Amino acid sequence: MTELQAPTFNLNGYEIRDTILYVNGEYVPKSKAVISVYDSGFQHGDGVYEGIRAYDRRIFMLHEHVKRLYESCKSLDIPLERDVPYDQMIEIVKETVRRNLAIGVHDIHMRLQVTRGIKRQTGMHPNLNVTPCSVVNCVDEKPPIFNKAGVKLITSSLRRYPPNLLDPKIHSCNQLNQIMAAIEALRQGADEAIMLDMNGFVAETNSTTLLMAKDGALVIPTTDCILVSITRKIVMEIAAAHGIPCIERNVSVSEFYNADEAFICGTVGEIAPVCLIDGKKIGHAVPGPITELLSREYRKQTEQYGVTID
Ligand SMILES: Cc1ncc(COP(=O)(O)O)c(C=O)c1O
Repeated sequence: MTELQAPTFNLNGYEIRDTILYVNGEYVPKSKAVISVYDSGFQHGDGVYEGIRAYDRRIFMLHEHVKRLYESCKSLDIPLERDVPYDQMIEIVKETVRRNLAIGVHDIHMRLQVTRGIKRQTGMHPNLNVTPCSVVNCVDEKPPIFNKAGVKLITSSLRRYPPNLLDPKIHSCNQLNQIMAAIEALRQGADEAIMLDMNGFVAETNSTTLLMAKDGALVIPTTDCILVSITRKIVMEIAAAHGIPCIERNVSVSEFYNADEAFICGTVGEIAPVCLIDGKKIGHAVPGPITELLSREYRKQTEQYGVTID
């Protein structure tokens, strides 16, 4: 039997998989998915999101992601609870995956996004919003995005927001702070940019959590100025289960330069070793034993756990 091949469409010369997206109550092909220009997300980046991965017929950490989505909405007074009950949201994600599996989409990565909804006229005030929240679940065929042989980092000149400016624990659609850091990384030939907190300690990279290993222990920047990553929590649990001490404290970039190993982690790229920071080689610039163990055990979890699609 020949395997199903999801259709593609052409966008500006790029051949793109025509996955099925959920857009405000409907399942539509990516090539046809649209949203109002008066949507709060388009107008102001006034929304939140979660990046979620499915492995075969299992959606990994689905409840953890959807819970965080509702928490972000609560912090921003986006009335998601009122408009879409939690169980319905879980069903939306499951049905999106089911429909994509049915047309032969592999390596499903989703961006489940909620905005304050559509405005009756332009303007920042939430009292101009006249519809329920917008809910979109974007689906891409996207294997883990980082080079497992090693990623290059630079230190950004931009600081990660502290909670009294815009709490990084709110998983906001508005990512200009991190996008500007990512631009610095790209300009310098790197993959990601390290963002420091206002005191000069490492917070995270523009899109991942950054950790290091030194003398057999994991040394992990605190959660003060970061999105509390679901992958970070799993990594710490795996380390603890293997007798690797986890030390959570303020960490400087020079400590990262002198780490035995460093790695980034997150749903979209899983775990990837860091080979270079600001041009300096980290450890032996190859995936070290702790990074390899954590990657292997993380992969095992993605093969075993998750909410199953029937
Ligand atoms: C800034 C930032 N840090 C870390 C992560 C990784 O979080 P998770 O492991 O929950 O995917 C993300 C994911 O979106 C992120 O945007």
